[in-house]
Amino acid sequence: MAFNYISAAEAASLIKHGYNIGLSGFTPAGTAKAVTHALAEIAEAEHAKGNPFQVGIFTGASTGDACDGILSRVKAIRYRAPYTTNPDFRKAVNNGEIAYNDIHLSQMAQEVRYGFMGRVDVAIIEACEVTEDGKVYLTAAGGISPTIARLADKVIIELNAAHSKAAMCLHDVYEPLDPPARREIPIYKPSDRIGLPYVQVDPKKIVGIVETNWPDEARSFSAADPITDCIGQRVADFLMADMKRGIIPSSFLPLQSGVGNIANAVLGALGREKSIPAFEMYTEVLQDAVVDLIRQGRVKFGSTCSLTVTNNCLNGIYEDIDFFRDKLVLRPSEISNSPEIIRRLGVISINTAIEADIYGNVNSTHIGGTKMMNGIGGSGDFTRNAYISIFTCPSVAKEGKISAIVPMVSHHDHTEHDVNIVVTEQGVADLRGKGPKERAQAIIENCAHPDYKQLLWDYLKLTDGKAQTPHAVRASLAMHAELAKSGDMRNVDWSQFR
Ligand code: COA
Repeated sequence: MAFNYISAAEAASLIKHGYNIGLSGFTPAGTAKAVTHALAEIAEAEHAKGNPFQVGIFTGASTGDACDGILSRVKAIRYRAPYTTNPDFRKAVNNGEIAYNDIHLSQMAQEVRYGFMGRVDVAIIEACEVTEDGKVYLTAAGGISPTIARLADKVIIELNAAHSKAAMCLHDVYEPLDPPARREIPIYKPSDRIGLPYVQVDPKKIVGIVETNWPDEARSFSAADPITDCIGQRVADFLMADMKRGIIPSSFLPLQSGVGNIANAVLGALGREKSIPAFEMYTEVLQDAVVDLIRQGRVKFGSTCSLTVTNNCLNGIYEDIDFFRDKLVLRPSEISNSPEIIRRLGVISINTAIEADIYGNVNSTHIGGTKMMNGIGGSGDFTRNAYISIFTCPSVAKEGKISAIVPMVSHHDHTEHDVNIVVTEQGVADLRGKGPKERAQAIIENCAHPDYKQLLWDYLKLTDGKAQTPHAVRASLAMHAELAKSGDMRNVDWSQFR
């Protein structure tokens, strides 16, 4: 079947006010860009005429400025799920302009299939190749592409020449059946391939192909600093000690690690630590640091949803595809983040907290308990099901005015039941096997910054010290209230609660 080659503007004109659009991509690798960019112009023109124009967006995870950024600036997003990192989107969400549904990434495709979010009117899929019989080869991420391409009434392909056709061999596309027909997902080691290298789309639904040459809007991270390096080394030392004790098998276990500087520092430290054997990753995002470790032979295999790497690094992978083809696989997010597989493989998860409380509850998403930062991403998928779940963060933020260790988190993402280890530059709190009162001792003693240690001990003195989880309820968020009042948590005065 011969396809229609159309412009981005023509493709965008197929999207109407009130539609839900499904997008390929994940953080923001492999995200469609040209059509959403053109859609923003349509929305702006309609708004200028006094007409409403807003869409719902279903995607894998964060997109780049060409989607979340530009569409939120022109107020064209009514609803969006899941994770995002764009600052303009964040502003719009915290202004109450967008209904943001921050769900676990593993659940996104299935919740769209279950019909929880409404129909998918149009899917926009970035591809490096498409065949006349509807084989669509994805670019740098799996995301929710198989599901949205199957469910959408119409499919638009962005055929992006900035991605090499080398990406064709990287994907393993698999979509589980829904209950009650769901079977096990047959992945028994990170390198298992269980699906097809392409997304099969009914060619009759492909309403147009938009040719682009638009590199991924890759994020760059600031250079490592002594704090992140110290946290990275503490995680590596902790894992090494657990391996020596026989808690982690001597062949090691697959790792998941989030994005950002701390993740890079952790992986750098693990790579340098030669007593840890070459290991595998079963993760959702894979950064430059892991690609370097694959080249060095320190990482044997990387299973991921997306290549969240710089464009230089991505082009390096494409150029050396003969080296990488049996060392990397890209999966849809419901497979890369599948609770079933994470638990079966014994993945060790390493994620970043905004704040943790003295009992081991973690807030990953909300500043001050109310303002959305980014979202939960895959941190819940991995933490809840990990062999060992680790959270890292600097012990203080904003020049020490904020303690990351607080009496009670101002928002709960990961509960005390799921969090095993908390690591700051101050030290490591091993919460495994401990009750709440023992956890509080371990966290305050090992993780709190010296400016806050006594304040946290003093908080505990306000409680009866006996209950299962001792709290002085009125004082439990007083450090947050103090921050809002004076701008510095260190000014908290417990005497008002005695
Ligand atoms: N209270 C208020 N602000 C805080 C804070 C706290 N307790 N802790 C950190 N911040 C601020 C920082 O000062 C910084 O502000 P800035 O942007 O004005 O400089 C900002 O929050 C980000 O903190 P930073 O230390 O740079 O952390 P990060 O970039 O590593 O991001 C998370 C940390 C938690 C926001 C990020 O990892 C995330 O979104 N996680 C959830 C998703 C996830 O874990 N996914 C799984 C793997 S991808």
